[in-house]
Amino acid sequence: MKKPKVYITRNIFMEQEAALSDACDVNIWKQDTPPTYHLLMEKVAGIHGLLSLLTDRVDATLMDAAGPNLKIISNCAVGYDNIDIKAATDRGILVGNTPGILTETTADLAFALLMAAARRLVEGNDHIRAGKWKTFDFNLLRGFDIYGATLGIIGMGRIGKALARRGRGFDMNVIYYDHHDGPEKGNPVEARSCNSIDELLTQADFISIHTPLTSESYHMIDRQAFGMMKERAVLINTARGPIVDSEALYEALSSGSIASAALDVTDPEPLPPDHKLLTLTNCLIVPHIGSATIVTRNQMASMAVENLLAGVGKQIPPHLVNPEVLSRRR
Ligand code: DGY
Repeated sequence: MKKPKVYITRNIFMEQEAALSDACDVNIWKQDTPPTYHLLMEKVAGIHGLLSLLTDRVDATLMDAAGPNLKIISNCAVGYDNIDIKAATDRGILVGNTPGILTETTADLAFALLMAAARRLVEGNDHIRAGKWKTFDFNLLRGFDIYGATLGIIGMGRIGKALARRGRGFDMNVIYYDHHDGPEKGNPVEARSCNSIDELLTQADFISIHTPLTSESYHMIDRQAFGMMKERAVLINTARGPIVDSEALYEALSSGSIASAALDVTDPEPLPPDHKLLTLTNCLIVPHIGSATIVTRNQMASMAVENLLAGVGKQIPPHLVNPEVLSRRR
């Protein structure tokens, strides 16, 4: 019997590569940068399963280029804003993701960014490397206390809650806004729910974003939002770059209307080396490494392979994004 064909858009070093090859005819894009959309269109022709990363745009045109065999798109990420879910569902294609396993790891990074920005760690490191450390300087790199400060979390899902626990552990006051939950949804981690995002923006000292990128959250943090924040506010984004309007962020940081930002995600992504955000000392940026620990990335790869194998084997993937597809799957 012919094996199902699967295409994997990056070398994600799957522990189950041998098992996958036993079950499927596997084709892996082994380069460090993603295949272009145009190339991907050619590569997917006739496949039964696609294992994608968040950098691959998987839209209706690409699904149609794959053709009627395509049963599953397994995204190796918890976020799936790179995939047109409706187009997949309309075509009877299952979509899988990797929730849960990266929660604590991503919350760790968000809190690391919060601490690094509050205590100006990267500026300190740069100061020494630039040969500027001449003496103990009483006035050098004064930052903000973390204990006793107010942490405002936008999006109280799994990662938001994990960050709230970290904040409580550091004696922060935690407030949150989640437009899905509504204020009446209880008090998950000794955090106070805000009735509106404006309430959170005006009260928080540290604002951390943990909401998915959707048409509603696109540019949720815009000029008006920055205008509401405290002058000492620190913005942390480990969710998706386009939730923040980059132009407005640059203005807020360069004018001093907020204190600083610490970003794991940007818009555009990757950020070109000559981007003006990189000229600012009060903007700390790391290259989308929220879930990048050895254990977590291995688990994500395993989960993505599990979803892929289930889908091509006509089973229900353990982590299915679009359950409504089950009544019309191929
Ligand atoms: C995700 O999974 O969506 C992260 O952005 C990468 O781990």
